[in-house]
Amino acid sequence: MTSSMKCLALDYERYHKTFRVYLEMSTEHQTVHRFIRESLPDILARAGKGKSTFDVISLGSGTGEVDLEILSQLIKVLPDVKVGCDMVEPSEPMLEKCKDVVSRTPKLENANFTWNQMTASEFEKHWRDRQPEKKVDFIHMIQMLYYVVDPVGTISFFRSLLNENGKLLVILISGECGWSKLWSIYGNEFTRSDLDQSLTAANIKRYLTAEGINFETFTLPTKLDITDCFIPGNKKGELLLDVVTELVDFSHTAPPELKASVLDYLRRPDCTTEVNGRVLFNTTLEALVLSQ
Ligand SMILES: C[S@@+](CC[C@H](N)C(=O)[O-])C[C@H]1O[C@@H](n2cnc3c(N)ncnc32)[C@H](O)[C@@H]1O
Repeated sequence: MTSSMKCLALDYERYHKTFRVYLEMSTEHQTVHRFIRESLPDILARAGKGKSTFDVISLGSGTGEVDLEILSQLIKVLPDVKVGCDMVEPSEPMLEKCKDVVSRTPKLENANFTWNQMTASEFEKHWRDRQPEKKVDFIHMIQMLYYVVDPVGTISFFRSLLNENGKLLVILISGECGWSKLWSIYGNEFTRSDLDQSLTAANIKRYLTAEGINFETFTLPTKLDITDCFIPGNKKGELLLDVVTELVDFSHTAPPELKASVLDYLRRPDCTTEVNGRVLFNTTLEALVLSQ
C-alpha cells in the first residue's frame, strides 16, 4: 500500500477528464438512453398522471446528457406539464458543461432549471432548511450513490420526498459484473476516503428487501473497452485505469505489484471478454425503481 494514491471522486478536474474518456469507451450512455426511451416513459406517465406540474430532482447530474434524454421522454408522455428540475452536482466543471448542454437544447420552454452546485447531502440539508414539506414526482441517482457517505440514508431521505405516485430511480453497477468482482478483491487497497465505492445494486436490493420496500428492477448490459489499459504509457488507458480503480493516476501512484496484479485480474474471464482483439470489461448496470 502507498499513501500517494488519492480518491478520484475528490479531484473534480481529473474526474471530469476521466469521465469524458469513460463515456467515449463505454456503452453506458447508449444503454442508459435505451432504458430511458423504452422503459422510463411508462414509469414517468404513471408518476405524472393527472398533473399540471411535475418536479424532478437530479442527483449527480454530471454533464447532463442523461437528464436531457429523461426530459425529452417526459415531455413526450406529459406534453402539457410544467417541469421543475433541481439539478444537483458538486463538481464545477461538470455543472458548467451541463448548463451549456441544457442552454443549447431546443424545446425546453416548459422546463425550469435550478442549479445546485453541491453534494447530495448538502442538498438534503438545504431542502430540510428551505422547504421540508415540499414533495416531488421523480428523483434520479444515476451512477452517483458511490460518492455519498451514507447511501441507504440518502435513498431513505429522498424517497420520503416522493408524491403519492412519485418514483425514485437508482442506477448502479450490478453485483454480478466484472467491476464488482474486481472491487471485491481490491476494494480495501483502492479505498482512499470514507466512501464505500464498492457499492453495487445488490447492496441496495438487500436493504430494500430487508425493509420491505417494493422495487422494479432492470438489467442494463454495459461494456467498457479497456484495451488501451494494457499498452504501457497509453494516456487513454491511464485515464481508464483511474476510472476502474477510482484513483488519481493509478498507473503512476500504485505500487508496481498492485498495478501488475490488477492488470492481470482484469484479463480474467469473470471481468472481461475479448472480442476482435478488444478487451471488454463487464460493467453491467442495474436500474431500481422505487415508489413512495
Ligand atoms: C458517474 S457520474 C454520473 C453522471 C450522470 N448521472 C450520468 O449518468 O451521466 C457521477 C456524478 O456524481 C457526481 N458526484 C460526486 N460526488 C457527489 C455527491 N456527493 N453528491 C452528488 N453528486 C456527486 C460527480 O461529480 C459526477 O458528475
